[in-house]
Amino acid sequence: MRTDGNCCMIQLTVDFGQKISICASAADQNLNFAQPPTTIQCWVPQACVGMQAECLRFGAMVPDAGPKIGVVGIGSYLPPRRVTNEDIERCVNTTAQWIVSRTGIKERRYVSPDTCTSDLAAWAAADAIDDAKLGPSDIGLTVLGTSTPDWILPATSCHVQTKLGLPTAPAFDVSAVCSGFIYSLAVAHSMFNLCCPNSHALVIGADTFSKLLDFEDRTSSVFFGDGAGAVVLGKVPAGYGILATELMASGALHDIIKVPAGGLHLPASTDTLSGRQHYFRMDGKAVWKYVTTTIPKLVPAVLAKAKLEAADIDLFIFHQANRVMVDYCATQLGIDTARLHYTVEKYGNTAAASIPVTLHDAIRQGRVQRGSHLVLVTVGGGMTAAATVMRWY
Ligand SMILES: CC(C)(COP(=O)(O)OP(=O)(O)OC[C@H]1O[C@@H](n2cnc3c(N)ncnc32)[C@H](O)[C@@H]1OP(=O)(O)O)[C@@H](O)C(=O)NCCC(=O)NCCS
Repeated sequence: MRTDGNCCMIQLTVDFGQKISICASAADQNLNFAQPPTTIQCWVPQACVGMQAECLRFGAMVPDAGPKIGVVGIGSYLPPRRVTNEDIERCVNTTAQWIVSRTGIKERRYVSPDTCTSDLAAWAAADAIDDAKLGPSDIGLTVLGTSTPDWILPATSCHVQTKLGLPTAPAFDVSAVCSGFIYSLAVAHSMFNLCCPNSHALVIGADTFSKLLDFEDRTSSVFFGDGAGAVVLGKVPAGYGILATELMASGALHDIIKVPAGGLHLPASTDTLSGRQHYFRMDGKAVWKYVTTTIPKLVPAVLAKAKLEAADIDLFIFHQANRVMVDYCATQLGIDTARLHYTVEKYGNTAAASIPVTLHDAIRQGRVQRGSHLVLVTVGGGMTAAATVMRWY
């Protein structure tokens, strides 16, 4: 704002379709712009100069003019081996009917024994780099969300870096179980200007839960499949890209999703092996309770941060944990499930891969266009939860 004699001038840059209202006592007008991006200058009476604070607060609601960070390429990889509920029925004490009615899952994909998380991650990442029309030398940061790493150490992302021939730029893993992708996205977003202001960041969610499942435990083994999804982050024009993110963790509930042994808290021993303690364990009821109380609060919080409402969102990408639970959360939020995209029926719960795999699937089905507003939301072990709002470029 600058003042000039009896008047002051405010200059705002507004983006496509954005409606702005200038406070009636400052200037009696409502403006609705249909063309991108427009600069308006309006003179308001000197008497309103005392309202600078209000005007400045209003000005802060207008998108910055500078470029933003958003997705410029996306890829995914699902292993070819299909495992149907009937296949599961043959090795687990369950029925295909129970699985589909309680989870909505019909089949999932499993890796072959010689395939690791780094393989899935590298294949999905190569797809994303290709989609962005870039090469390995354009990547200045790699963040991999996974809870099924190739080794306890070093980071699986470093193995991915080698497989893809990426430069010696930072690469590390983020452990947030099924929230791993959105956590990684938030980390890469916040580190972008530090690590790669003139290049791009690679963000991957990849997991091979099939190698962690105990087929003697019917309460957890029926849910999961393997997969990987990846995005390339880069500069996008103002008004596009990542608009807001919310992250949270409730460590008091760390026990309800876990692999009890194999870490340094309980290293491998003959007892841990005979006690089957190296397998994934989940308290399904406690997870249901956490998810169905957290997501209905998290989505409004991230929307408020983005200054949007649920009605402004074109598509919701929920973590594909369980269709029954996702639909329950959508109902709690008052969102028509027609505005959700699902892959749980064909891929099951692919943990950290679930969000980018489902987003990529939605794009391939033509459900996302330039300018679409998207909400990505997830919950994972920890317990952790994360949501982000983006405007697709
Ligand atoms: C797992 C879940 C479907 C179980 O539903 P629930 O109403 O809590 O059911 P219960 O745990 O009381 O189990 C109900 C019955 O189904 C049985 N059951 C559990 N898993 C079964 C399976 N795969 N096949 C057949 N029966 C099964 C239980 O043994 C129990 O039998 P019982 O009544 O004879 O004891 C539900 O809690 C859930 O969806 N939780 C969220 C899990 C999730 O999405 N995890 C991933 C998060 S990242």
